Amino acid sequence: MASLDSVLSCIDLNLDRSLGRLFDLLRIPSISTDPNYKGECRRAADYLAGDLAAIGFAASVRDTNGHPMVLARHEGPEGAPHVLFYGHYDVQPVDPIELWTSEPFEPVVKEAPDGSKRIVARGAADDKGQLMTFVEACRAFKAETGSLPCGVTILFEGEEESGSPSLLPFLEAHRDELKADAALVCDTNMWDRRTPAISTGLRGLVGEEIVIKAASRDLHSGYYGGAAANPLHILSKIVADLHDETGRVTIPGFYDGVGEVPDAVKAQWDNLGFSEQAFLGEVGLSVPAGEKGRSVLEQTWSRPTAEVNGMIGGYTGAGFKTVIAAEARAKISFRLVFDQDPAAIREAFRAFVTAKLPADCTVEFHAHGGSGAIQLPFDSPWIAAAREALTDEWPNEAAMIGMGGSIPIAGEFKHRLGMETLLVGFGNGDDAIHSPNEKYEMTSFHKGQRSWARILDRLGKGVAV
Ligand code: BES
Ligand code: MN
Repeated sequence: MASLDSVLSCIDLNLDRSLGRLFDLLRIPSISTDPNYKGECRRAADYLAGDLAAIGFAASVRDTNGHPMVLARHEGPEGAPHVLFYGHYDVQPVDPIELWTSEPFEPVVKEAPDGSKRIVARGAADDKGQLMTFVEACRAFKAETGSLPCGVTILFEGEEESGSPSLLPFLEAHRDELKADAALVCDTNMWDRRTPAISTGLRGLVGEEIVIKAASRDLHSGYYGGAAANPLHILSKIVADLHDETGRVTIPGFYDGVGEVPDAVKAQWDNLGFSEQAFLGEVGLSVPAGEKGRSVLEQTWSRPTAEVNGMIGGYTGAGFKTVIAAEARAKISFRLVFDQDPAAIREAFRAFVTAKLPADCTVEFHAHGGSGAIQLPFDSPWIAAAREALTDEWPNEAAMIGMGGSIPIAGEFKHRLGMETLLVGFGNGDDAIHSPNEKYEMTSFHKGQRSWARILDRLGKGVAV
């Protein structure tokens, strides 16, 4: 206990310094999806490997076909468990840039109307601020005790926001180095500002980009209009046909493998005291728009979706241009639940689109990643241990929640390496991840570090598996 107390006060005393290190990382624009930022992704990996080496990890940057991995290892005491901590140093693009009130890669601390402080920058919450909570907890342990309470391997990737294409081959190729007793991930949310959470599920994801083409060039919309097929109309019709009037996805076979949440879990969700009005109201909405007859928690945690993330085509510049574009594009993602098979969903979608193509039209498909949903056991001893530790740190007991987002690799830790995964994160619903003015609460950054210190200390005492 004495050593945990000193580690916790070390964290408190060094908060400003840890913030400085996070700022250094946040200044690196490691946008994985945009090839222009390839060098910046490597710079972020180098920075992290350097920082972990400074703490005393055996750390290295490993090349892949895409952005590099950071892999670092520190042994623990004899007999203590060994954990694999996973996070991602890549971030989402910043657009629409004009809506940011400060530069996305010039982090600042801002004061909210209620006096609380928040770190504003792209990646502040997703996932640089979150992954640094773990790194800082390790640093404080090393500073105060010269060691870590359990063995720790750290894996940071730079392609999570692009579907983690290099990670599966990397897992396979480095099984021995990566194998641990459990995987820890800090890339999810709290329940609310006073209530930490352990996420017990994540949705899967399939990304598809489609390009519909008709005439061999852009056409004058008066000279050809009425006779020529318009790819933007065809694309819009396909998109409109994705859902029926009850909000269900119409792709044949889409719901294969979709189950219902057990009553006991539903009861637990009902007890969380979730307010649909507050959830929607915070972003200017009032009426749930998804599948009829489902609660918002079901809609976002346990039901699959089809969402258009972007549509491109025709003249969108200043003024006006009378044109029938030769092509139209859409980026569409599907969130998956239960046993939906990413490959089968992709095939079903492609067949659905192809069947709707009129004469003279062609379609190209480009895959953008695919991963299944994950569901973690509620009764895992890892979860029980983390729950005790979190409850010691926060005002309220840790909640067990679902999470609508995806972390593509999370399921593979179990499938490929046989490890239980523990999803503990300190994000908040209003952090605006993937949006302008992304932020991370200072309390998340501070108490997140303290939480990991407590969890590591607790795990070091042994987990009865
Ligand atoms: N950190 C998020 C996942 C998340 C979202 C957790 C919302 C908690 C609340 C993660 O980095 C993410 O955004 N993943 C992408 C993956 C995709 C691009 C392959 C996602 O879910 O869209
Ligand atoms: Mn993330």
